[in-house]
Amino acid sequence: MTVLAHSHDKGLHDRLAGRAIVFVGLMGAGKTAIGRKVAQALDLPFIDSDHEIEHVSRMSVPDLFERYGEPEFRSLERRVIARVVREGARVVSTGGGAFMDENTRRLIARRGLSVWLKADIDTLMERVTKNKNRPLLKNPDPRAVMQRLMDERYPVYAQADIVVPTRDETRETIAAETVDAIMRYLDGEPRKDVSS
Ligand code: S3P
Repeated sequence: MTVLAHSHDKGLHDRLAGRAIVFVGLMGAGKTAIGRKVAQALDLPFIDSDHEIEHVSRMSVPDLFERYGEPEFRSLERRVIARVVREGARVVSTGGGAFMDENTRRLIARRGLSVWLKADIDTLMERVTKNKNRPLLKNPDPRAVMQRLMDERYPVYAQADIVVPTRDETRETIAAETVDAIMRYLDGEPRKDVSS
């Protein structure tokens, strides 16, 4: 299945009222893969903030970290996300550290709708070991780094408007659950985990 047919997405664009749907969560949670599917399903443009950063800087994320350091990367990330979130209804997947920035969180709260893809450590580690492009995990004990990031970040990610538990399931299933959670949120239901 490539596109999720959705019966109740009529009026979605009206209900979004120009807000961006912003995916947050740790490395390996599937923000890009699921974000792209959700964008297709809802017929919205899709932007990945790391790709956008690489495009404007003409450098890869690991090169940016190495040559300019994390603070410079974070400052570029903040600016890029501020721009793409202000550009209207769309789906934006952010790098795992982006939502830790208070200004970014405030902007997303005002101009977007945040979705935390919440995963356990085994799911995250399984996904990130396939891809070596993550400077923060260039460490002799990447699992310990991931655990520390979970401890630091999960309380902050928990401020997202919607929480979607993700696991070892197909992208289509998680994307469909995410679309349902967004619809329920927009219908004014109180926030809840889709699994509960
Ligand atoms: C980071 C996550 C990465 C990327 C950078 C820093 C983080 O994005 O922005 O390596 O601080 O968690 P993904 O979450 O898309 O891997």
